[in-house]
Amino acid sequence: MKGLILAGGLGTRLRPLTHTGPKQLIPIANKPVLHYGIECMEDAGIKEIGIIVGYTPERIQQIVNSVGDGSKWGVKITYIEQDAPRGIAHAVGIAEDFIGGDDFVVHLGDNMFKEGIKEHLEYFKESGAHACLILSESETPEKFGVALTNEKGEVIEVEEKPAKPKTNLVITGLYFFKPEIFQFIRKLKPSARGELEITHAIQKMLESKEYKVISRVTRGWWDDTGTAESVLRANRLILTDLKPLNKGVVEENVKIMGTVNIDEGTIIKQGSVILGPAIIGKNCVIGPSAYIGPYTSIGDNTKIIGGEIESSIVIGDATIKFEQKIVDSLIGKNTIILSENSLPRGYRFIVGENAVIRT
Ligand code: TTP
Repeated sequence: MKGLILAGGLGTRLRPLTHTGPKQLIPIANKPVLHYGIECMEDAGIKEIGIIVGYTPERIQQIVNSVGDGSKWGVKITYIEQDAPRGIAHAVGIAEDFIGGDDFVVHLGDNMFKEGIKEHLEYFKESGAHACLILSESETPEKFGVALTNEKGEVIEVEEKPAKPKTNLVITGLYFFKPEIFQFIRKLKPSARGELEITHAIQKMLESKEYKVISRVTRGWWDDTGTAESVLRANRLILTDLKPLNKGVVEENVKIMGTVNIDEGTIIKQGSVILGPAIIGKNCVIGPSAYIGPYTSIGDNTKIIGGEIESSIVIGDATIKFEQKIVDSLIGKNTIILSENSLPRGYRFIVGENAVIRT
């Protein structure tokens, strides 16, 4: 069994952050989204993983720098370049040589699955099916690929973003395939949005009546970190299971409540209050008299000099000296936020790298 992680795509919904880097490297609880996918595969016993990357040398290099050859997880990583974001099915199709006749799992690089993939993989292996789709109930199925299944969970039909969905079961970013899928991918034509759609390949497989496509509904949460809202939601979900840790220095007169994880080289200065769950990376300076509220992740080398921040992600190398409360914000690397006057209200920021904000 091989693994394939799709880390190409443009990430337009996460601009401006994706102007300077791939969305799959946005950290959730201080760890890039992409690493969660690799860990899921490693946990399921998959040793050979292909990663689809594109389109600029800078983006590809950032992913290579972050993941390397996979030895830190004990897996072997092969990078496969996609020339343009031509769709999920295109990305899977260009990996045919890498897959080389094995069964394989496809994991979208911006998706996160709390329960991992191990149980699904065992189920797929035992089923003898040609494909297995992992589904999730959704309140907005019209925004996704939707599956119609029978009482045994066998898939009868799939549709891409139907105007009138027949069910509320949407196709998540986790698929298991036998190599037979490639013959259907090869025959695809671009959809109305100009992409090769994996749902179309699966529908063709179903229509051929020769192949069995099964499904499983996820029990744990699943998230697609394609928008700032979903990145923040995934951060909250991961932080809910945070383990407490303190490798830093906590000065006197600091109040820490709930689960807080402080990494080495970090100083929490006097008068500060941290309410967990919250994670603070390496070599940060918090305070004096700063407030870090629940569901906040602060990346390495960040200074939070006074002010309040809650339910937010600061990716790292940032300086924030802001007298008002920052909430539900996603703040890129090397950002400086300084307040020079004070207004009694909350601010919300989705800020790319290298930004400077003054109020
Ligand atoms: P999407 O979120 O569907 O597409 P995107 O990354 O271009 O984002 P946006 O819609 O905001 O512009 O992609 C899902 C995952 O699949 C993501 O990790 C990127 C990856 N992908 C590829 O590797 N190649 C592709 O051609 C496409 C479309 C996506």
